[in-house]
Amino acid sequence: MLNVVPVALGARSYDVRIGTGLIDAMGREIGPLLQRRKVAVVTDETVASEHLMRLAKSLESEGIAMTALALPPGEGTKGWAQFTRCVEWLLEQKIERRDVVVAFGGGVVGDLVGFAAAVLRRGVRFVQIPTTLLAQVDSSVGGKTGINTGQGKNLVGAFHQPSLVLADIGVLATLPRRDLLSGYGEVVKYGLLGDSGFFDWLEKHGPQVVGGDASAQLHAVTRSVEMKAGIVSRDETEEGERALLNLGHTFCHALEKATGYSDRLLHGEGVAIGCALAFELSQRLGLCSQEAPSRVRAHLKAMGMKTDIADIPGDLPDAEALLRLMGQDKKVVDGRLRFILARDIGAAFVAEDVPPDTVRAVLTQALSGRQ
Ligand code: GLY
Repeated sequence: MLNVVPVALGARSYDVRIGTGLIDAMGREIGPLLQRRKVAVVTDETVASEHLMRLAKSLESEGIAMTALALPPGEGTKGWAQFTRCVEWLLEQKIERRDVVVAFGGGVVGDLVGFAAAVLRRGVRFVQIPTTLLAQVDSSVGGKTGINTGQGKNLVGAFHQPSLVLADIGVLATLPRRDLLSGYGEVVKYGLLGDSGFFDWLEKHGPQVVGGDASAQLHAVTRSVEMKAGIVSRDETEEGERALLNLGHTFCHALEKATGYSDRLLHGEGVAIGCALAFELSQRLGLCSQEAPSRVRAHLKAMGMKTDIADIPGDLPDAEALLRLMGQDKKVVDGRLRFILARDIGAAFVAEDVPPDTVRAVLTQALSGRQ
């Protein structure tokens, strides 16, 4: 089972290869990119203990030497300290401009290592091997790289496209169910933002996707990547259409900040809740029918996902404070609230100047659902 999705970006075009057994085929897959038979792999300790041996064997079978660095797992790694460690390690390994760096892990590893590759010797090539559903359908594709700082998430980074993405859906079987459901939040996002037929399909087959059915997973990852590849090739640096990929994210970022980027709310969970709120907001603004937000919430609930603010454990600030956190989001342009709203399922658009009072009303109602 192998699907190939091209990301068309002129001289920087690359393929996203999606299938089973790609980790074991890594040596053969990466071989054509190499000018010397050596790669530097950066991963995290969890992925290293589960999958690094297989990667090493595959490279060895093709006569490719591997050197590897395993960073601590978790969002806390995505900051200056581990970034510096990664860049210095790559220099110690004598990685040169013609070499290839491999980012082997979830979104944290992909973003950090991609950024390290972007700045190392003014830019070296890198390959993404995403090991979470979230990274396979979103963060490994499109070249957004970066780290978090004390001021917020992803505030320092670069656009740096990978040379190849290998999404081995076999690794999804090793993910905890909560991580898989969190990644599914990003999958649903694609149906909601631009493909109502895909959303219909997810309503029927979503349980198979998170239940481990390989052909359902292949379809879900491939369709998501196709949509992302299309958007990225039309708007690489987010001058317009790419912003649609942020559906649900303005609410999500405020909720993530309010919960301290902790285990209380995973990113994909926040995206799912944020998508439900974005549809609610669209309905309140008279942009879509009541049926659309009801359908979004019904699907998330049927999948056993966090759907409402009420599903987030622990205390949360009030609507006013959440609104203030949204005001700090980097998607705010000239202090105006910018949201991705929808006219229907599969019909999202960028809305500038959304009235804060309506957002406040949506948040107040959502918070009142909490006991
Ligand atoms: N994750 C949103 C983007 O890549 O633009």
